[in-house]
Amino acid sequence: PNITYVQPDGARRTLVAAAGSTVMQTAIANDVAGIVAECGGSAMCATCHVYVDPEYIDRLPPVSEVENEMLASAASERRETSRLSCQLSVGGDVDELVVHVPSCQV
Ligand code: FES
Repeated sequence: PNITYVQPDGARRTLVAAAGSTVMQTAIANDVAGIVAECGGSAMCATCHVYVDPEYIDRLPPVSEVENEMLASAASERRETSRLSCQLSVGGDVDELVVHVPSCQV
């Protein structure tokens, strides 16, 4: 699967992710700027917040209760497309994803 990360300044980077890995894991493994992931993927920090490109939002599973609560404390404004990138796995139906990195995470 391909994941494209778009920075606030518009810079784009597309990475090939391992099937089953998360958008957060792929970002951390490749030093993508702006994904902090303080809690390491436990849906406990909201520093892996991303805005999923509207074109792709319907392909993703719904926000869980825990994710919903954490998103409420994200540093950047919450939008309808806000997700925790540690809760987004790629592979299967999600063979391509574009996410926008917020301007701040802490
Ligand atoms: Fe902490 Fe995603 S890494 S909530």
